[in-house]
Amino acid sequence: MGAVHPRVLGILGRALSLELTAVQQYMTQASLLELWGDHDSAARFRRETVEELRHAETLVQRMLALGAAPAASQLRPVTLAADLGGLLRQNLALEQDLIHLYAEAVRFTLLIGDQHSCDLFTALLDDEEHHLRQLRDWLADRPRESGFSGNPDRDPHARATF
Ligand SMILES: [Fe+2]
Ligand SMILES: [Fe+2]
Repeated sequence: MGAVHPRVLGILGRALSLELTAVQQYMTQASLLELWGDHDSAARFRRETVEELRHAETLVQRMLALGAAPAASQLRPVTLAADLGGLLRQNLALEQDLIHLYAEAVRFTLLIGDQHSCDLFTALLDDEEHHLRQLRDWLADRPRESGFSGNPDRDPHARATF
């Protein structure tokens, strides 16, 4: 195993922070959806939680293989919304942040010839792009909002977070 570029370790740490942020966010939103009685959406968010947890585990395994201790520096606070559409839009933003980070990681590891890291980040990028497409489709296809409001798209309080 050759020496890893210190910037790759930095990217791995930032990625772990974002993936664990995603775990916290999807897990919390699944619980919120249960509270709203939307069990189908809660189940989808729970599956998403597991996928993000697997990503975090992949990053931890790579860090350990490089002799580095996992170093997620901080989790972002969970972002909530008053309806399913609001949650999905929050998640689109988080997935986009992950995509930007992994796209940057792929470019950098290609540049320095770190093929192993490049393959890892490429696989993660593919997964997050898939998540983004799924979220966009879900947002477009959802038949009705769930949440406290009867018609959140027309409710002036629909975008209030709590
Ligand atoms: Fe992820
Ligand atoms: Fe994701």
